[in-house]
Amino acid sequence: MKTANPTCFPREGTYWFSGIHVDLQCGTPEAEIHYTVNGDVPTLESPVYQRELGLIPLESESKLYESVTTRTVIRAIAVSEGMEASDPETFTFDITCDARTKYRYHVLRQGEALADLYCIQDFDTDKMFLFVGTERALLIDTGYDPDGDMKSLVDTLCRGIPYDVLISHGHPDHVQQANNFIRAGIPVYMNAKDEALLPLFNYTILDGYHDIQDGAVFDLGNSVIDLYHVPGHTPGSMIAVERQSGFCFSSDALGSNRLEKPDTGWIQFDTPCCTLDRVLAQIQKFRWRTQGRLTKLFSGHNTYALEAELYLDNLEAAIQDVVDHGESVLKPTLRSTEECMGSSQIAVRSNYVYDPDWAAVNVGTVFSDGFIPKKNTDLNWIGVKNGSLSPAFDRQTTEYTLECSMPSVILTAIASSTQSTIYLNGKQITSKQDILLDFVHGETLTIEVASPDNTLRKRYILTMK
Ligand SMILES: [Fe+2]
Repeated sequence: MKTANPTCFPREGTYWFSGIHVDLQCGTPEAEIHYTVNGDVPTLESPVYQRELGLIPLESESKLYESVTTRTVIRAIAVSEGMEASDPETFTFDITCDARTKYRYHVLRQGEALADLYCIQDFDTDKMFLFVGTERALLIDTGYDPDGDMKSLVDTLCRGIPYDVLISHGHPDHVQQANNFIRAGIPVYMNAKDEALLPLFNYTILDGYHDIQDGAVFDLGNSVIDLYHVPGHTPGSMIAVERQSGFCFSSDALGSNRLEKPDTGWIQFDTPCCTLDRVLAQIQKFRWRTQGRLTKLFSGHNTYALEAELYLDNLEAAIQDVVDHGESVLKPTLRSTEECMGSSQIAVRSNYVYDPDWAAVNVGTVFSDGFIPKKNTDLNWIGVKNGSLSPAFDRQTTEYTLECSMPSVILTAIASSTQSTIYLNGKQITSKQDILLDFVHGETLTIEVASPDNTLRKRYILTMK
């Protein structure tokens, strides 16, 4: 019997990326794959491919003013105990990296009722998005290289329509041309919580950028863009949603996996907002607020738009699993720990080989201080329709005023753990379920959460006023 020939994923060929990652596979279970990346004929003495140590990274050289194509030839042979070795296979990859100063764009939508929409990409496969409406235009993010001239391209595509620039968050691959726009007098918006991150990457934004908050709206004439503050990836991460289409522009705030660079860094950075229990709360709050209206999700790096709700189902489930069951359900990263900026674990749901809407999250600090899954009595969100909570919901705050000008109110409690039990005025209710209640001025609603091990209880008190 002969061992099956090794194969690779993604398939060999030409890629226009700064780098890709290759998985070697074999149809004979338990077979060892010996490989080389310098074109040498592989032998049984060649290194053994170990996926648990990370996929094989192939990177292109990068130059300031010219495109570079880097060819890598992987040769592999598989062998299984008691079987004849496979034939050797050869996989040739050409990775072309654009000049650092070059921008390509794609027309995503043009000549329709809503604003024209373009995706602009730089050498680093960073994705920027440009809406050109009938009254104003909006550019989301500015890309990596400070030496480029993205503004000229944006000016051309805007055709004289005045525009604003939104920085999704303060990481270098999104912000580094911001100053070019500020110098030209273009209004640039970024959540000020991310300003402290910029010096970590040797960047300083010029005075004159505008702080932007949750709830901000960009009215472009024929499209309206709503902004949501969703901390986690960074403290100031902002997500933009086109109200009419449900298109969601999440940059890195909801992950940025892609076929060629799976489990790309996300919340492994060491900021207090990036623990999984906190991120889950932010995702659930964002999903409650958008109420299943999202259609396509455009991240800051994905090659293609994702099916927003399918992807968010996977993302939420991946993180929920860890919050429910603890660190033991985390899996090893697909790339090396060094490449993942120190993260060695991912929360994951589905599979990158067959599912474009799979979700994987690099994890740094897993839980907030004192968080124990079986002792979890937190609510992640109390949603109110026809009314509002004061102060704004925070899972550590347990007393609220519930205001409403209607005869009834709809309440939705979302528990942090799917293993906990929720009671409303002593009667068990289901997490995420809408509950219609008469609004009775002066009455009190008590939401009590019992921990998964039923040893702890926490009460949230809502007084109707
Ligand atoms: Fe980022």
